[in-house]
Amino acid sequence: MTISSSLTSKLPSVGTTIFTRMSALAAEKGAINLSQGFPDFPPDARLLERASQAILTGNNQYSPMTGLPILREAIANLIARHYDRKVSALDEITVTSGASEAIFDAIAALVHHGDEVILFDPAYDLYEPAVTLAGGICKRVTLAAPEFRPDWQAFSELLTDKTRLVLINTPHNPTGTCWKAEDLESLWQAVASRDIYVLSDEVYEFIHFGESAVSIHKHSELSKRSLVVSSFGKSFHLTGWKVGYIVAPAALTAELRKVHQFVSFCTATPLQQALAEHLLALPEASAGLASFYQRKRDVLRDALANSRFQLLPCEGTYFQLLDYSQISDLDDVAFCEWLVDQAGVAAIPVSVFYQQAPDNQRIIRLCFAKEEGTLLDAAKRLSQL
Ligand SMILES: Cc1ncc(COP(=O)(O)O)c(C=O)c1O
Repeated sequence: MTISSSLTSKLPSVGTTIFTRMSALAAEKGAINLSQGFPDFPPDARLLERASQAILTGNNQYSPMTGLPILREAIANLIARHYDRKVSALDEITVTSGASEAIFDAIAALVHHGDEVILFDPAYDLYEPAVTLAGGICKRVTLAAPEFRPDWQAFSELLTDKTRLVLINTPHNPTGTCWKAEDLESLWQAVASRDIYVLSDEVYEFIHFGESAVSIHKHSELSKRSLVVSSFGKSFHLTGWKVGYIVAPAALTAELRKVHQFVSFCTATPLQQALAEHLLALPEASAGLASFYQRKRDVLRDALANSRFQLLPCEGTYFQLLDYSQISDLDDVAFCEWLVDQAGVAAIPVSVFYQQAPDNQRIIRLCFAKEEGTLLDAAKRLSQL
């Protein structure tokens, strides 16, 4: 018996992600990489100094399983200041190894075999495999281009007695849209009388342009049955640190901690220490993030204004969608391969975020968490197509 003949994959349709493929292709071709979502500029030097000091001064052993108390207190203060919501650092906040681990823990803890989970299509690529591994079944509501607004009638039609969890994400990757207060209200009206939890992925919470972003933290009813996920990777330009956190009522937190303690037990202690000290020293550190990224968004949009790409609205996140239908009839995966080869710019095809991408949708995603020079160089290349 060989391993391959006896091995039945639990995730047969999952391969190497497009992010890994496009980044590798960009490196191979020497292309400008606007595909994967990470900054090409350094984080705040004071944060790096704090992390070095934390290592040198001996913060190198396991932290408490739930996260360093000083960091959980700092997170509670951040939520109180930003959302006017009081949460308990003791039993409602858990520090995790990135938002990814938090999402995984929550799904593993709450979804039983045969439970249904509703997500909005396109969706971040981690959600479905996590639900599948937990034995759950994903049901998807399509967000239709170019507005990508949730259709609450379609959502209500998917609700059954088996629906256990709804997964939402605002500001939204990949579309760059932000939900409105009335969306949360529609969600609440649809689930209020049912035994359903909400997992709200708010990793881009501080990157929104225009109106202030809505959050489950601000909805007094939904927050009582929701888990809200955030990522310091996004808020402090530290995607490689993989430090995130999840906020949920004590009963839900107790369940997800049962998973967290066996998945990672704790997150790198010196990084937690550094983030806690940074938040204490600079409580408003994330306040300027929206204007910082808005400028980058505008630099990219202005530089592409005369190109043959059509720019879709971008209300939040650091992703800009481009419709390329005036340039090519290729499907979006083939177009991204062509683009990296011909224009020297790596992008992400939006169809990879869908279970069933709409026919003839010709949309790619660019990450603008880059130096302005990088954005201008990329836009110059794209404008020549
Ligand atoms: C919508 C969304 N959720 C979660 C994550 C994962 O965050 P982390 O790197 O903190 O695990 C990402 C990262 O790109 C994301 O875009």
